[in-house]
Amino acid sequence: MHPVKIGLLGLGTVGGGTVNVLARNTREITRRAGREIQVAKAFTRDPEKPRICGTEGIDLVTDPWEVVEDPEIAIVAELIGGTSLAKELVLRAIELGKHVVTANKALIALHGNEIFSRASEQGVMVAFEAAVAGGIPIIKVLREGLTGNRIEWVAGIINGTGNFILTGMRDQGRVFDDVLTEAQALGYAEANPAFDVEGIDAAHKLTILAAIAFGIPLQYDKVYTEGITRITPEDIRYAQELGYQIKHLGIARQTPDGIELRVHLCLIPARRLLANVEGVMNAVVVKGDAVGPTLYYGPGAGAEPTASAVVADLVDVVRVFTADPGNRVPHLAFQPDALSDLPVLPISEIETAYYLRLKVADQPGVLADIARILADHEISIEAVIQKEPQEGQMDLPLIFLTHKVKEKALDAAAAKIEALPAVKAPLYRIRLETLE
Ligand code: NDP
Ligand code: HSE
Repeated sequence: MHPVKIGLLGLGTVGGGTVNVLARNTREITRRAGREIQVAKAFTRDPEKPRICGTEGIDLVTDPWEVVEDPEIAIVAELIGGTSLAKELVLRAIELGKHVVTANKALIALHGNEIFSRASEQGVMVAFEAAVAGGIPIIKVLREGLTGNRIEWVAGIINGTGNFILTGMRDQGRVFDDVLTEAQALGYAEANPAFDVEGIDAAHKLTILAAIAFGIPLQYDKVYTEGITRITPEDIRYAQELGYQIKHLGIARQTPDGIELRVHLCLIPARRLLANVEGVMNAVVVKGDAVGPTLYYGPGAGAEPTASAVVADLVDVVRVFTADPGNRVPHLAFQPDALSDLPVLPISEIETAYYLRLKVADQPGVLADIARILADHEISIEAVIQKEPQEGQMDLPLIFLTHKVKEKALDAAAAKIEALPAVKAPLYRIRLETLE
């Protein structure tokens, strides 16, 4: 089948990331979508500018209308930002019957009601997963995964730049402006970074979350918004002494009297998971009446994390063209004729590190014997703890942490270790994953 041709408006951080992800994962994405997604045309103001992506095979244009008006282009991805030109381009794309994907939270928060109404009239999709919390699929969670719930509240760290600044100030004692400059260099910040540090970006995102969570129109002008610019390193230290972390939160809550919509700094007890969300990471807690509190965590900004959400939206749209109408998302996510025959590995072939606990006789040479068996099986030891026997006991607990090794090597070593006369009980193992 022919590829689906898409047009990108904008080839900066998010546009470039999207090109890279589509190129690198073409096979997987095609297997999921049912058709290849081909970036046919891309708009940029300056085609000579250095980019994070290759542009071979892409028709680069300096007039954004060329992308929107191109009859070959079925999906327009708006990755420019702002609410003037972006709005005009999106509305025109919809008018021409094209589906739209956007990462632009300002556009959706301010003009989403109008855009969605036009899209419904035209029967086209407008997808905006990347607009909230970067790579975290929180829109999908609220719109699909939690539809059985009455959502009571949503609270989250939803601006990566702000969290990056707060973490840099706290952990490295750096000053505000210095960390902001780094966030800009990393592509996290908005074109106008005041949107990040004054809470405007978080308010855009909260507007969208609240609309989807509670079934209310988008009402950006009703969000109470405070930024992070007045916080000092001392505030962060004092809060820590009191057992809290300071985080910039967006909070939306249904109360009997109405809906709270607020963005501001908050002290959070240090033991809460949200208090430990660092750097550019975002996290959103959603409290549903049936499920209880649920937590979604991931990178909140940056080229490829955001592209991950943009591409997911592109795949959703392409599935409209490819899937049987009753099952737009294939039951197993991939198209049925594109399932892979990759083998599932037996546990013996899996490689992890291990915590090993042994019970051994308190006699010389035992530790050396065990270490030799491990070495013979090329299992290297990261740490050993030898404990005193408990009162009335003759045997010693001996604990090893190993480096990564295949399970079958450990099985072979374990059999030899358990056969040593000084070893008094079967070796107990717990696999260790650093999840890095
Ligand atoms: P960039 O500034 O990196 O890229 C913007 C692109 O749009 C560039 O190609 C630029 O042209 C073009 N552009 C910028 N301003 C204008 C303008 N006034 N008129 C015409 N073209 C313009 O931005 P990002 O990729 O970071 O952001 C794009 C969108 O994605 C924004 O809506 C942003 O809020 C959103 N977003 C960004 C995230 C991030 O981590 N950066 C995360 C989630 C969403 P040129 O290439 O010539 O400079
Ligand atoms: N500037 C935004 C942030 C980009 O830092 O969170 C992601 O929406």
